[in-house]
Amino acid sequence: MKKQRFTVDSFLKAKKNDQKISMLTAYDYSTAKLLDEAGVDSLLVGDSLGMVMLGYENTLQVTMEDMVHHCRAVSRGAERAMIIGDMPFLSYHISVEESVRNAGRLVQQGHVQAVKLEGGSNILDNVKAIVKAQIPVMGHLGLTPQSVNMFGGFKVQGREEEQARKIAEEALRLQDAGVFALVLECVPEQLAKIISGQLDIPTIGIGAGKYCDGQVLVMQDMLGMYTDITPKFVKKYADLSGAIKEAVTMYIDEMQTGVFPGKEHSFQMDAEVIAKLY
Ligand code: KIV
Repeated sequence: MKKQRFTVDSFLKAKKNDQKISMLTAYDYSTAKLLDEAGVDSLLVGDSLGMVMLGYENTLQVTMEDMVHHCRAVSRGAERAMIIGDMPFLSYHISVEESVRNAGRLVQQGHVQAVKLEGGSNILDNVKAIVKAQIPVMGHLGLTPQSVNMFGGFKVQGREEEQARKIAEEALRLQDAGVFALVLECVPEQLAKIISGQLDIPTIGIGAGKYCDGQVLVMQDMLGMYTDITPKFVKKYADLSGAIKEAVTMYIDEMQTGVFPGKEHSFQMDAEVIAKLY
């Protein structure tokens, strides 16, 4: 039987019922399938794919084409998890019309159920227009990686009163503009607690402590596959880079020593046919 998909409504119900929402990033079919089968509520096709899948130094080079391509792959793998596609840098910065068109592309061609935009008061008109087009929007405040050049690096946001107040106010504005959930990235947990308490919509934290209504991690980080940078907030639930290297070393060794491929991995033909070939 087909599983019922986690929806915008499920996000809101989870907040009401004090149930934590689980979210992970995914960028391809086979991992999306595994994460979905493991029971994760939501899959974010994050523009972090620029770093962990494409090897860029930040997320700014990711294009709409990249996002559509990866969203399509994830959507083929996930039956229950709600799929949210990140809107990449410049896809919602030029005009409200372009924002709606690009959000629509992620739904129509990428088959996502919602989109995520980074920013606060600077994107309220875009959020409203996308929601008006019947596309659910997830917000993202705190350390918004597309603003890395304005922040001067990947730094914790909202430690000081003025900035903390600004983030809390922007969270309320985004809620008023119609976002169904809000990612809080790299903010002190006390600030995330205040924001989560003041909102009716759920907050999803990454480096924002335990008081958020849900958590998101980059899959490659939590499985120990991406080792270029390990942020403080990442907990490694597995060491897949170790496991992968060990398996590949064994494969090279067995292949070189003739252990692999064995008879069980090879195809045979009848002796009479062989004889005719000599
Ligand atoms: O791109 C991404 O993976 C994200 C999460 C870190 C929230 O935006």
